[in-house]
Amino acid sequence: MTVLSAEVNTLQLPIPIMSLTRQYEAIGNKLEAAAIKVLQSGVYILGSEVKTFETAFAQRTHCKHAIGVANGTDSLYLALRALGVGEGDEVITTSFSYIATSEAIVRTGATPVFTDLADDGTYLMNIGSIESLITPRTKAILPVHLYGQACDMDALMTVAKKHNLGVVEDCAQAVDATWNGKPVGSFGDFGSFSFFPTKNLGCAGDGGMLTCQDDDLAGKVRSLRVHGQNAFASYNHTSEGMNSRLDEIQAAILNVKLPYLADWSASRNAIAKGYTNALKTCKFLTLPTVQKQAASVFHQYTVALTADAPLTRDAVLKALEAKGIMARVYYPITLPLQGMHANLGIKKGQLPVAERLADTVFSLPMFPELLAEEQAYICKTLLEILG
Ligand SMILES: Cc1ncc(COP(=O)(O)O)c(C=O)c1O
Repeated sequence: MTVLSAEVNTLQLPIPIMSLTRQYEAIGNKLEAAAIKVLQSGVYILGSEVKTFETAFAQRTHCKHAIGVANGTDSLYLALRALGVGEGDEVITTSFSYIATSEAIVRTGATPVFTDLADDGTYLMNIGSIESLITPRTKAILPVHLYGQACDMDALMTVAKKHNLGVVEDCAQAVDATWNGKPVGSFGDFGSFSFFPTKNLGCAGDGGMLTCQDDDLAGKVRSLRVHGQNAFASYNHTSEGMNSRLDEIQAAILNVKLPYLADWSASRNAIAKGYTNALKTCKFLTLPTVQKQAASVFHQYTVALTADAPLTRDAVLKALEAKGIMARVYYPITLPLQGMHANLGIKKGQLPVAERLADTVFSLPMFPELLAEEQAYICKTLLEILG
């Protein structure tokens, strides 16, 4: 770690895109005590910590059920399976997300059908285009609340209901985000959450959760996560499932962290406001916009470089890195253009907004403990780089 002299002499560089060590410094003793308690209990799978966390999470997301699973990829897959999605079906989703979103669709045997993005600074799927993509094979819609901002779930649910389609909300990056005051994960048939360590609510390994309102769907997932086991008879398996459970130690860690989440989201919002205030005069950057019905939890603060910017994105990122600022690109390749989906034959140019954003976006350091002087240095440096 370098300590800079002169005007930035209080800064420790590099400034990471996100850091968990400051969170550990603040609450590490509580996390350790919770993990040790589980170790001492001798109960490591589906014990009281998972139950407590599922109950608290269901309440927080205004859902009747919350079912802990192994990660946020399995949760998408299990939700689709519970809705009966499989071979020959189509699922409409965004073209701009982490690969897990479309990978989960492929894993069921179904085909992803990609929408372009709304060109409005939200980085979210173009909900207005969904209806034109519906075919007799369409079974579900999988919106992603990307970077911490909710999609327009009123519009999306109207289309889903009209065409009798299932809805799985990918809330991996958006725990506690709301649309019209209602939490993400409470609109569709399922809300799918990830507790990957760098998520807004992260555990110390992998973890995930499905939320839902329907007793039958919840029962299906509870069975599927334990090898399709009959709810009332151990070693009696009624359908092909998998082993995908939230670990007891991870649930204990999440139980410690959950009460801090609202404060962490407030910090993220304050940091986002700071970035917007400092960068809004830069004509070479497009800043993120938040729709008026949405409350974002700013998993990322992502900007896009304009076409007339004096430097390429690579050059901007290199210049930032040289100054000790670790910005990252989420995501440099759209989902349809990933090799995984080459069989779909989607060509460059078919989803122009997503492709333009994949070429121009970058995310700035964002975590609740980011210091004001670090943010000031990031903004000043970025403005200098862009002239
Ligand atoms: C949008 C999105 N969906 C799904 C996932 C998958 O979650 P996990 O890494 O817990 O499997 C992630 C995170 O990695 C994600 O960002």
